[in-house]
Amino acid sequence: MITETDMGKNRDIENNGGNGGTDKLIEKFDRLVEKKGITLRDADNFKVMENVFDDQTLLALYKLVNKGKISAIGGSISTGKEANVFYAEDGDGHPAALKIYRIQSANFNTMGEYMAGDPRFSSIRKSKKEFIFAWTKKEYANLIRARDSGINCPQAYLFDRNILLMEFCGDRETGTAYPQLRQAAAGFTKSQGEEIYHAIIADMKTLFNGASLVHADLSEFNILFDGEKHIIIDMGQAVLPEHPGAVRYLIRDIKNINRFFSRFCEPLEDEAVFKEIVGAERMQP
Ligand SMILES: Nc1ncnc2c1ncn2[C@@H]1O[C@H](COP(=O)(O)OP(=O)(O)OP(=O)(O)O)[C@@H](O)[C@H]1O
Ligand SMILES: [Mg+2]
Repeated sequence: MITETDMGKNRDIENNGGNGGTDKLIEKFDRLVEKKGITLRDADNFKVMENVFDDQTLLALYKLVNKGKISAIGGSISTGKEANVFYAEDGDGHPAALKIYRIQSANFNTMGEYMAGDPRFSSIRKSKKEFIFAWTKKEYANLIRARDSGINCPQAYLFDRNILLMEFCGDRETGTAYPQLRQAAAGFTKSQGEEIYHAIIADMKTLFNGASLVHADLSEFNILFDGEKHIIIDMGQAVLPEHPGAVRYLIRDIKNINRFFSRFCEPLEDEAVFKEIVGAERMQP
């Protein structure tokens, strides 16, 4: 239970400025985590978190814990170019993936291109920090649209500032994420590879027509494999078909998928896949 005193402490934390605030914040975070019985599966990894993220991010995390939206934070799953992903559990104890965009080290030049042409977000001309918040919201919104259209992707649970909480795609017992397609494919038979190839193209078509999205970074790195099915992840950069780069991104996605699956089967022509996804009349490659 969160008491009035806890809430008071929360305000104290917000009022902490400067570097001295960081230590106090972390100390209080630790205390809160302990008091609420939060499982820190891997204390060393949490230290990494403390070193990587700024005070405001830690504070936002603290609040999510305090509000009961996150009930456990576990080990690091991935340290990517723009974000870190941790194992976590949502308020009900369901396994979750906690993706936190790093405000300092994110690569804005490349990210800007995907944001600027998107009518949902193009009005956002803001500070680096606000840009990252908008990007996080965009990934959340894209995951929801994608999931609603029926494709297999993580269910998005919540976003707050640069923090995204979503369904954990992995082994719930060990907290290990499913392998990326590039790793899992080593064990595929040719016919299995071919089947998954067609299933991914079908998902690209559903994504385009059902969710009005082009993934724009689709490759064997951003597809996980659960042993039976593929799962498309990493949707921050996905754009609407009216984005000026949408055709280019879609062709790039198609080329990536065709290249990767050429080891299992004779892939379709890039143009044929484009027509299959978009429909012959709607857009020209
Ligand atoms: N929902 C999830 N469940 C389990 N693992 C996940 C989930 N989302 C991401 N991961 C893990 O984290 C890795 C990186 O995730 P993602 O591709 O979304 O982030 P990224 O910042 O683009 O990383 P990179 O820069 O490495 O591409 C994935 O390859 C996967 O191992
Ligand atoms: Mg990725």
